[in-house]
Amino acid sequence: MKNRSLASVAALSIAAVMAAHGPARAAGPDPLRLCADPDNLPFSSEQAAKPGVYVEIGQALGKALNRPVSMVWYRTNFGKRAVRVTMLAKQCDATIGLPPDSDFMGPRLIFSKPLFKLGYAIIAPKEFEFTGVSSFVGKRVAVQFSTTPHNMIGPREDITSVTVLSPEEGMMKLAEGKADAAFLWGAHAGYLNTTSYGGKYKLISVDGPGLQWPTAIGFTRDHADLRDKIDAVLPGMHDTIAALMTKYGLPVDTPIKLGDLASIQRVRVAAVGDKAFRFAQAAQPAPAAAPPPAAGDKVAAVAADPTEGKEVFNGTCAHCHGPDAIQSEKKIDLRRLTTRYGDDMQNVFWKTVHDGRPSKGMPAWKEVFTDQQLASVLAYLKTRQTTE
Ligand code: HEC
Repeated sequence: MKNRSLASVAALSIAAVMAAHGPARAAGPDPLRLCADPDNLPFSSEQAAKPGVYVEIGQALGKALNRPVSMVWYRTNFGKRAVRVTMLAKQCDATIGLPPDSDFMGPRLIFSKPLFKLGYAIIAPKEFEFTGVSSFVGKRVAVQFSTTPHNMIGPREDITSVTVLSPEEGMMKLAEGKADAAFLWGAHAGYLNTTSYGGKYKLISVDGPGLQWPTAIGFTRDHADLRDKIDAVLPGMHDTIAALMTKYGLPVDTPIKLGDLASIQRVRVAAVGDKAFRFAQAAQPAPAAAPPPAAGDKVAAVAADPTEGKEVFNGTCAHCHGPDAIQSEKKIDLRRLTTRYGDDMQNVFWKTVHDGRPSKGMPAWKEVFTDQQLASVLAYLKTRQTTE
């Protein structure tokens, strides 16, 4: 670890930006190099005035270990890839904020003790009484697409779900009066509540399968020493960490356990990573399975209702394809399906909505909507075709 010069660190070939806090001193202790995303508040940011919870925890750790801290910035939009090209490539010693899970990148990483838990929270006006999912009956609830809350609320006929793609959008629905409550990723919603909404809403953390996860510090295997040193100082940092969470609006309340998962009927599970939740459902009576029509013409036999199709479309597809399918960007203008594909429109529709085009940003919907609903969307889209 001695004599690691800035030059050798900076010589790495990827686009990460190094921001060493002060020059490396030959005699002093090596800097603790932390990988972080430059633009991921409330967790991390390269803005010195607002560095984020993980960066400030890192700075506090540096103090406790008597080592200067240097940040290695790398965007994490690509998830595990970020860890691969940064920490596994030895550009940094630790990454704060990884799931301490041996499933996460296999045996190559080791973890500190958990720092705290992250999870979903209910965000609602202060007078909203929340005692469990039943408090949502008759209400409109904003949920992020394809998350555990979406799986819980979406299938309920007695609750109106307002599907959104981000915590930002969920908070906006709440502020615009288009939702009575929101059920979103707590850290981001809490941060937005503090920074953009003046603390107007209350946050209630909830626990249950697929709702809360611990976050920890990840290291490569050869850093067991550093991991042990950090584990030794972490208990003494409890208050510092709690204060930082509060500073950035992260929920610090004790989560309410959601007891009425069992009352979920007609469950349609969305595709993304809700293993634990699916596991919980296995114990419940299976929903009546829709026949699985694969080819276009078999599907055409499913009862289709353009009015229902319009509702599904505007509730979900319109986020990307425009309300009532009005969309100025040609590539995703679904009013041009006939022009584009002629008689093949139906087949293209089914293939695309069932399997999605994940690499192009079009999600797969077969686990989310029944074929009857999707047939209704197709029937609706047929009423919207133009030749312009
Ligand atoms: C998160 C954004 C997003 C959402 C939500 C979304 N789509 Fe898409 N969709 C796309 C993108 C992006 C493409 C274009 C993919 C490409 O470039 O090939 C696309 C393509 C399509 C196509 C093929 C268009 C063509 O001309 O080839 C169909 C059909 C389609 N979407 C239907 C739907 C339906 C129905 C829904 C709702 C159930 C929906 N989409 C929801 C992003 C989205």
